[in-house]
Amino acid sequence: MRPPARKLFVKTWGCQMNVYDSARMADVLAPLGFSPTDRAEEADMVILNTCHIREKATEKVFSELGRLRAVKDARRRAGAGDTVIAVAGCVAQAEGREILARAPYVDMVFGPQTYHDLPAMVARLARARHQPILNTDFPVEAKFDRLPEEVSAPGPAAFLSVQEGCDKFCTFCVVPYTRGAEQSRPARQILDEARRLAAIGVREITLLGQNVNAYHGEGLDGQAWGLARLLHALAGIAGVDRLRYTTSHPLDMADDLVAAHAEIPQLMPFLHLPVQSGADRVLAAMNRRHRADDYRRAVARLRRARPDIALSSDFIVGFPGEDDADFAQTLRLLTEIGFAQAYSFKYSARPGTPAAAMDRQVAEDVKAARLQALQQVLNAQQLAFNRRHEGSVLPVLFERRGRQPGQLQGRSPYMQVVNACGPDRLIGSIVPVRIDTGHANSLGGTVDTTGPDMTGFVQEPAGFDCPGQVA
Ligand code: 5AD
Ligand code: SF4
Repeated sequence: MRPPARKLFVKTWGCQMNVYDSARMADVLAPLGFSPTDRAEEADMVILNTCHIREKATEKVFSELGRLRAVKDARRRAGAGDTVIAVAGCVAQAEGREILARAPYVDMVFGPQTYHDLPAMVARLARARHQPILNTDFPVEAKFDRLPEEVSAPGPAAFLSVQEGCDKFCTFCVVPYTRGAEQSRPARQILDEARRLAAIGVREITLLGQNVNAYHGEGLDGQAWGLARLLHALAGIAGVDRLRYTTSHPLDMADDLVAAHAEIPQLMPFLHLPVQSGADRVLAAMNRRHRADDYRRAVARLRRARPDIALSSDFIVGFPGEDDADFAQTLRLLTEIGFAQAYSFKYSARPGTPAAAMDRQVAEDVKAARLQALQQVLNAQQLAFNRRHEGSVLPVLFERRGRQPGQLQGRSPYMQVVNACGPDRLIGSIVPVRIDTGHANSLGGTVDTTGPDMTGFVQEPAGFDCPGQVA
């Protein structure tokens, strides 16, 4: 018997791992008759996939829950049926009981290690509608072993989770508590999933892990493989033209991984390598286990292997005890290195982490001033990096339509967003694009008809007319 047709609305906050998890939750629920919608008002089930990394992220969950309560009541009044409200992800893991106490209209709370159990949880709720479910186990059996074989992808670029959890215990970070200990998937599972993605038209795969370069899964030969071995094997899959991985820790940039950047043409010349601070004193208090110079050396090794590699990073300002001299060291490091893009945050005390209990918490206005100063330099670097590509031809994987009519949007090898006019059939192709303008957050270009014949890239015939083009 076919299951009843139902609508599922998933809202995702936080990291790419959450984006991946949300897609897998939808895959797990599809056989139960759930199809996606982007409107909570018509959903039979709403899942909030949450992030606990900073205080603001957590607050957003509670305000969204307030809105959903109104939606649930309105649907019930209109006779549209019941709305199951579920909270998943890291807030669920860390604050499951508080959520059920504060928002009793929530039906299900489950942590990141349990979503393969969703069908059982949905069935249990259907049997006992008034008993909310709280599932924040860390099962011994890896959730990866129980995910469905079917994969879906949002377009020609997809995520693939290879490692989860973290054993590093940076003193500011909740991840080791919400995602648990480091766990790597066996290479065979990963290669199978990559082949299935390639078969549905995926051209670019980003390997995901909270500490992805600490990957140490079981290899095809039964030995433990590092990330470099895994990347070499993935590069052998026909159709996978681009590989990336995120997020990395500077300590785990092994020699063979650095060498992979020189050896594997599919491995894109872009790396997100968080440093957090440029001051050794702060790095030590953060328990990052490396000094600023170790980071500089890791970058130098990468640049020797792949001279055009573009770097991105994460920075925290206002960590407890950070003074003006420490902050100046951070500015010095980022000026020396030069980043193509970066994320920067004010330190946010997270309950249960060692840094939250440290003395010398930094005043909010000092944090704000440092963040502004840091972002000014980072924004200037990003703009300079984008402008540097003006006039060059970059291979762009078009992923979707752009905002303007007739426009397509894709990514350069360096992760820049590129907008150019072109027909829809170029979505899913890697196309040479001449870069006309480098903006703050994107590049504008023209599909190139005269550029180098990049084998395997689609050459667009001359004279394509772009209706959205402003003369
Ligand atoms: N406060 C501010 N930023 C944080 N991050 C992690 N924990 C915190 C925190 N408590 C940042 C780090 C990390 C990124 C994902 O989020 O920079 O690399
Ligand atoms: Fe958090 Fe540090 Fe682990 Fe990254 S390496 S997830 S910042 S504990």
